[in-house]
Amino acid sequence: MASEPVNVNEFQELARRALLKMYFDFYNGGAEDQHTLRENMEAFRRITFQPRVLVDVSRIDMSTTILGYPTSAPIMIAPTGLHKLAHPEGEVATARAAAACNTIMAMSFSADCTVEEVASSCNAIRFFQTYVYKRRDVTAVLVQRAERNGFKAIMLTVDTPRLGRREADIKNKMIAPQPKNLEGLLSTEAVSDNGSKLAAFAAETLDPSLCWKDIDWLRSVTSLPILVKGVLTAEDAIKAMEIGVAGIVVSNHGARQLDYSPATITVLEEVVRAVGGKIPVLIDGGVRRGTDIFKALALGAQAVMIGRPVLYGLAAKGEYGVRSVIEMLKDELELTMALSGCPTVKDITRSHDKGSSLEA
Ligand code: FNR
Repeated sequence: MASEPVNVNEFQELARRALLKMYFDFYNGGAEDQHTLRENMEAFRRITFQPRVLVDVSRIDMSTTILGYPTSAPIMIAPTGLHKLAHPEGEVATARAAAACNTIMAMSFSADCTVEEVASSCNAIRFFQTYVYKRRDVTAVLVQRAERNGFKAIMLTVDTPRLGRREADIKNKMIAPQPKNLEGLLSTEAVSDNGSKLAAFAAETLDPSLCWKDIDWLRSVTSLPILVKGVLTAEDAIKAMEIGVAGIVVSNHGARQLDYSPATITVLEEVVRAVGGKIPVLIDGGVRRGTDIFKALALGAQAVMIGRPVLYGLAAKGEYGVRSVIEMLKDELELTMALSGCPTVKDITRSHDKGSSLEA
């Protein structure tokens, strides 16, 4: 591809060429048959919407707020681990791109840069994603380090009591250097039982007994607002609200956990209805186009998070690549809003699409 990439899919191809196969497969792959991986994207494609015409769209304002923090568009960077497999600057490059694009970065617990390095690299608004490990003290230490370093929220991932079966990683005997953010806290020297060293590490460290009541424990170690990431049902959304979380992320972990779980866009409306506007609902999984963002907003999401597209940009062109990916999606969203008669994100509503073929 000699010319500059013009969409996220072209960045994916650049990343494929730039990365070792083992690392590209790790970033790109999903669980087992990868049915949900395909569905995350296909379900977006099945949705169409009817534009409204003769609306003044001479000025489009994509800005919004997420948990009260202003962003230039309803797009956030999803937490993904091990950014140095993509680029030597790792999460620092990603954070700088977030700052340049005026958007929020959720940083993964399993980052190749420390929370301190990321915090001191730029003024991006940052959330910190965590799992709860058998070693609660390790979770507490990292959450508190994030809080001390100006991270604004904790994103607790709740769909990973065990790691999903990622067959590409098993075949490739996926191995990666210890994430620097965990240095001195958790050893990744676990011995693999199925070929993937990451799977063995996860099995040894993640706490499969984690329950709703444990969110109270997390709250006892931080004063930051807590979002739960990985909710796919109205029932769990209601439980999360009852327990007092600040927000919900509708997510299937980019289809890396439970294969044949629903595509996220197909359950978004159920969760949004259950939440009734009381707390923000974010969504991730399969967002590759500005039109996907428009669809998610029309079905009630406050914003979308993007995972792999950021990694593709980072692998292909470092910080510049991440910025390009985000700006591309922003440009596409802006055009979609103009062509469908929505000058602001508030204008993108389910009722705006009443009578359309928007069927999730
Ligand atoms: C992830 N994801 C993830 N989620 C999380 O809560 N903590 C993590 O450390 C990671 N790590 C991770 C690594 C890689 C390589 C990928 C692709 C994904 C899931 C991520 O936050 C998000 O839910 C999905 O990536 C969203 O789907 P898309 O945008 O990749 O389709």
